[in-house]
Amino acid sequence: MSNESLYIGLMSGTSMDGIDAALVDFSSVTPSVVKTASTNWSPTLKEKLSTAASGGFLTANQWGELDSEVGQAFADAALHVSQGIDGIVAIGSHGQTVAHQPNGKNGFSVQLGNANIIAEKTGITTVADFRRRDIAAGGEGAPLVPPFHQAIFADTHKHRVILNIGGIANITSLPSSSNQIIGFDTGPGNHLMDKWIALHQGVSFDQEGQWASSGKVMPDLLEQLLSDNYFSQAAPKSTGTDIFSLNWLNQHSPNGAAEDVMATLLELTAQSIAMGIQSLATPVDEIFICGGGAHNKALISRLAEITQLPIDSTASLGIDPDWVEAIAFAWLAKQTIEQQPGNLPSVTGANGKRILGAIYQA
Ligand SMILES: Nc1ncnc2c1ncn2[C@@H]1O[C@H](COP(=O)(O)OP(=O)(O)O)[C@@H](O)[C@H]1O
Ligand SMILES: [Mg+2]
Repeated sequence: MSNESLYIGLMSGTSMDGIDAALVDFSSVTPSVVKTASTNWSPTLKEKLSTAASGGFLTANQWGELDSEVGQAFADAALHVSQGIDGIVAIGSHGQTVAHQPNGKNGFSVQLGNANIIAEKTGITTVADFRRRDIAAGGEGAPLVPPFHQAIFADTHKHRVILNIGGIANITSLPSSSNQIIGFDTGPGNHLMDKWIALHQGVSFDQEGQWASSGKVMPDLLEQLLSDNYFSQAAPKSTGTDIFSLNWLNQHSPNGAAEDVMATLLELTAQSIAMGIQSLATPVDEIFICGGGAHNKALISRLAEITQLPIDSTASLGIDPDWVEAIAFAWLAKQTIEQQPGNLPSVTGANGKRILGAIYQA
């Protein structure tokens, strides 16, 4: 293992299911994962983060405290994979997104998780705050994973789409030719379904989509939800769970049996992802899925029916679907440390390539 090639990626996505930490060796073309650890948020911290992420008001004191508490949790997650291993070059910490509104004069994206604490506790140089430079350069600040997808998943003969189903779903289009790579958030991923099942069944997610499969799609509600402007907007575009939230759902009066609303949310997720894929200029050959939504069998089989395309998990390309995002942030840290750009302007709409993030020295 060459020491110059070891990086850690830390990710907690909008599903807020916990922090994923991956120690990755980049010495060959396909990165190899040396060690992984998942840490769940404590219920109280998750509650505070959920409140912040759904537009809840925080005083500056509360904000500062939460930022440090989350930083401690990220540092602990890193220690699970770093202990006993020397020479790790850097940690890439995504942080926990609590707001993402990149457009307009004062656009922003807020990730919590004080990176000073991560560098201090681990003794490892830490790169964080990846999104805001791209926004400052006129971009969406998201998605940031497409250049990593390009580096490891592109094929010279097939037009591949990499579909990440986290709290929000995003796609990366990797054409076989030199056609531009694009990528964008298609809209809801697991977040709305997670919130709805938590409200009605008291569990954090719908195992394999079974509860959704027990309900019937409500065509009127589905039509209303799909009429949101976001779905027909052209890329570049990105969104968040502060937009596609339970509030958003409630504005459309989801009056019906809870399992029928759930079936409708699953159908909304499948149809909006399919619309995103069908909006691409060149025909797609195959889809590879990553993120927790890859385990939602009912969702994947609806996607296969709607798109009529071969669908597989990124595992068949050598990367476990549950670790793609964490590995991507290790890769983004490597880009920054090597003074290479991390964004793709064709994806985010930024005015140019930029070196992303801030470096907190060991
Ligand atoms: N076995 C499963 N069946 C259905 N959904 C699952 C399963 N495992 C994970 N998920 C979904 O994946 C989500 C976590 O996905 P993840 O990729 O970690 O998202 P994020 O990047 O937003 O944290 C869970 O909240 C859940 O909705
Ligand atoms: Mg997650």
